Amino acid sequence: MWITRDLERTTKNIPIFYKEFEIGKQIESGELKISALGIVNVKINGQEIEEYFMPGWTNYNKYVHLVTYDVTSLLKEGNNIIEVTLADGWYSGRLGYGRGDCVYGDVNCLFAEISVKCKDGESLNVATDKSWKVGESNIVKSSFFDGETVDFTATTERNLSLLPNAKECNVEVETKPYEYEPIAETDVLFPEILYNQNGVLRLDFKQNFAGFITFNIKGKKGEEVIIKHSEILSDDGTPYYDNLRSAVSTDKIILSGGNDVFKPKFTFHGFRYAEIYNVEGVEITDVKGIVLSQKLNYHGKFECSNPIINAVYNNAKWGQKSNFISIPTDCPQRDERLGWTGDAQVFCNSAMFNSDCNRFFVNYLRLIQADILPDGKIPSFVPFFIPVSVSTAGVPGWADSVCVIPYNHYLHYRNKEVLKENLPFAVKHFNYYLSKSENYLSKVKNAFGDWLSVKEAEDKDVISQCFFGLSAQLISKMFKILGDEENAGKYCEYYNKIKHAFRENYLYKYGKIKGDSQTVYAFSLTVGFVTVEEIKTHFIESLEREDYKLTTGFIGVQYLLPAICEIGEVDTAYKIIKQTEYPSWGYTVMQGATTIWERWNGYTKEHGFETPNMNSFNHYSLGSCVGWLYSHVLGIKLSEDGEICISPSLSAEISYAKGEYLSAKGKISVEWKYEEGRFYIDVTADKDVNLNYNFNNMDVVSVQFNDNKIKAIVK
Ligand code: BGC
Repeated sequence: MWITRDLERTTKNIPIFYKEFEIGKQIESGELKISALGIVNVKINGQEIEEYFMPGWTNYNKYVHLVTYDVTSLLKEGNNIIEVTLADGWYSGRLGYGRGDCVYGDVNCLFAEISVKCKDGESLNVATDKSWKVGESNIVKSSFFDGETVDFTATTERNLSLLPNAKECNVEVETKPYEYEPIAETDVLFPEILYNQNGVLRLDFKQNFAGFITFNIKGKKGEEVIIKHSEILSDDGTPYYDNLRSAVSTDKIILSGGNDVFKPKFTFHGFRYAEIYNVEGVEITDVKGIVLSQKLNYHGKFECSNPIINAVYNNAKWGQKSNFISIPTDCPQRDERLGWTGDAQVFCNSAMFNSDCNRFFVNYLRLIQADILPDGKIPSFVPFFIPVSVSTAGVPGWADSVCVIPYNHYLHYRNKEVLKENLPFAVKHFNYYLSKSENYLSKVKNAFGDWLSVKEAEDKDVISQCFFGLSAQLISKMFKILGDEENAGKYCEYYNKIKHAFRENYLYKYGKIKGDSQTVYAFSLTVGFVTVEEIKTHFIESLEREDYKLTTGFIGVQYLLPAICEIGEVDTAYKIIKQTEYPSWGYTVMQGATTIWERWNGYTKEHGFETPNMNSFNHYSLGSCVGWLYSHVLGIKLSEDGEICISPSLSAEISYAKGEYLSAKGKISVEWKYEEGRFYIDVTADKDVNLNYNFNNMDVVSVQFNDNKIKAIVK
């Protein structure tokens, strides 16, 4: 039975549901299944399950996750107690675009079931029902955008027999098993004190991240201490809060007078700096920044001789960590934090090189499947919840996530089931494109274009047509992988017609493409609409006239560096990633960025901060160049047939590069250095990796390849 408490929301503190139960025998094993319209924190016999915001975010109108825990070690023979604190989370807390709360509903409900197997073969079941008791926690309120308020003066000792019983609630939504990594504490950061005067303590955690701060505190009973969070400092050294928009991002503590330990449970902030107010006469110790993220294995490594490139790599990794919380979000700080499909699409390859996000993306793809509109439009963000999702659905670059993510997923994780599951949705999406095209020229209204590009106005029609072709191409490839030659051929034909329409309409004489920007050349080359020979001159011009600075937005940026290598201008690609003048990745690093910014011009020395209406300092999208660091600098080329071909784009612009990647078949380590006109390449791979190399177009001095090790010298 699903249960709730018999109270109006917000009239009391966040509830705790209790159940005492007896296990009269020796325990063999115990399992807890739990789900909620809201988010839970679970304790069994006082021991907490250290996971956050479970059961995660889904479109609660479609389904909700049911999480299973092995709780054998938490149970005991004799009297047991389970306590579940239930907060708003995504279900009923403030969500997206500064909207109000209760987007999906206003009654938080809980389902839990403990199944115990005893050593004598008997079993016992304890599930939520009206016998569960409901009390109040010391958490007055908590929301992702606004923060958590904890009242340590509230009594936590309680007599269950005096508490009211839970109420039954009617929940009809389907439950689906939670089969993914949890959200958990992944790192701890220690702050530097920047300022400690007039009752204000300003801390710098040296890293922009998503999570919260925790500390021990002792002060006068009833005193209120406030913690505010910000990503960046203003020129005068004070924290900048404006870009959080309506997210209050403030935690509050009401002190008990004794020793209190502050550690929020149901909120997170995107921040690097924290200010604690009202600390005069208050003792604060053991201050830590707790990083929250999906608990993924970050197996990828990259390092080279250039500190700017290393910083870009690390910033993107921190961007990933900060935004992989239940789903891939755009940003962790302002009143948005939505699962934008375009952002996920551009960054997924980088994320998959960095970490094992196999299951993480399976979950996200299922959320996309659940929210596809009847006409085949893919929402621009999922889980879906407001009319904005409808009005911006089907947008090129966002909608294509349903093709790009499964295809990349296969290259990295080689699971055909994921392709089978997603292909029908990719086809629906393609049919929508088709229905909106004339003679294979996409007429889909493209609202976003090369989002946030600076300087040049990118050509939306060209981008739209490129995505139309890319979707056809990827669908054809996915059918081919599944052995469906007929459909592979059909989509290949579509692709050819789309390409033809592109060339007829957008490829001008002498290889100029409509829009004439870095993005249109890089993208049309990547998707195979044009040849290197055709566009090389104009592509190079688009880089030269900007003095190797960027004009690409979210969309173009992932294709840029690989395409520059493809036209044979490898040194130029390195010049661009090392660039420190505005606009470039390096410029943001020079301004102290520890994560990838939403905008190239988030802050410039000349103009200060961009509009606070949309200026996140922790958006991974422009960090999609990380894929290039693995696939081109290290040269780890994945392929549909599973062979991993090492083919680095070598350049004397750096003196060494090294890194690692854990493929589906094992680990690969690549290292190369440049010394006196020669590159020395060293590769090792686990024995099951289907390894090969390609040093074509290089002046090879020697190559040895045996035992899955490559040693080569090239000039
Ligand atoms: C988000 C982006 C998103 C974009 C689409 C922004 O508000 O932060 O990351 O892709 O909107 O328009």
